[in-house]
Amino acid sequence: MKRQVYICEVGPRDGLQNAKHMMPTAAKKAWIAALAAAGLEEIEVGSFVPPKLIPAMADTGEVVAFARTLPNVKVVALAPNLKGFQRALEAGAHKVTFPVSASRQHSESNVRMTPEQMVEEVRKCAQYPHPGVELEGAVSTAFGCTLQGAVPEDDVVRIAVALAEFCDAVALADTVGYANPAQVKRLFRRVKGEIGAKLEGAHFHNTRGLGLANALAAYDEGVRNFDSSMGGLGGCPFAPGASGNVITEDLVFMFESMGVPTGINLEALFKARVILSNAIPDEPIYGHTPLAGLPKGFRAAA
Ligand code: COA
Ligand code: ZN
Repeated sequence: MKRQVYICEVGPRDGLQNAKHMMPTAAKKAWIAALAAAGLEEIEVGSFVPPKLIPAMADTGEVVAFARTLPNVKVVALAPNLKGFQRALEAGAHKVTFPVSASRQHSESNVRMTPEQMVEEVRKCAQYPHPGVELEGAVSTAFGCTLQGAVPEDDVVRIAVALAEFCDAVALADTVGYANPAQVKRLFRRVKGEIGAKLEGAHFHNTRGLGLANALAAYDEGVRNFDSSMGGLGGCPFAPGASGNVITEDLVFMFESMGVPTGINLEALFKARVILSNAIPDEPIYGHTPLAGLPKGFRAAA
């Protein structure tokens, strides 16, 4: 079946970086294998950051190596600097995402660099040999910031344009869950007007319950690549108040029930969710569709 939207599961990175409980490496592997078996062809499996800073990501090298053994999976990792990028290349990531905050205060809190310095760091990575590896620049706090408050759209556009020069793809991220659908439409349209097809991904957090509404708004603007997290895990430890991502199970249900194929099997996704909740039983996980079950007579998009 031909996919019409492409969902990247970011739970193993965005989710586990913010979880109170550590998931053992073996459980991460079992969970990622189950996600792949459900049809997720792109999985952000971890980040290459100093292990002292985020201990839950210390095993990312091993997790990347494992994920590479799964057929049809694009293995994504986050890196905040050249050192992280080199570690990602060594481990064999297929794609590397760089978080570039449009908010000056979040940038300094998250990567200890100004947005301009971070853009230059990503440029250095792009100039470092990386045969076959895709680079994505994610403009984080693009819709507002818990530290700085409002983030001027001009700042988002400027960073997206700079990243588009040397990244394969650019994404807009609502790191702290401030976005609303009107804002999403306006900003995606504006950035697309500047960088065209290089604008690929949308990364939404569900902090105020608008994750799905924002995803749909982005879809209406032509976005076809979405990040989401199983059970709605997630959040940035360096952005106070940030909570979980848009929930994969509900996002898949939304698209499938609209007749938009995701390539993901919901029943298999629910099995992966059991692995997740068994691995970190004390972590709250969310999701309407898994709790309510599929509607009677439900048919996935064909
Ligand atoms: N992986 C592993 N170690 C790294 C590293 C990386 N990507 N980057 C730096 N280090 C090490 C350095 O070698 C140095 O080690 P040493 O003390 O043994 O010499 C130490 O960490 C400090 O390096 P420095 O370059 O001064 O980094 P910093 O302390 O200024 O931190 C970042 C900058 C970008 C590394 C850090 O802020 C970071 O990882 N941020 C990302 C946070 C995150 O994951 N947020 C959520 C996702 S958006
Ligand atoms: Zn996020």
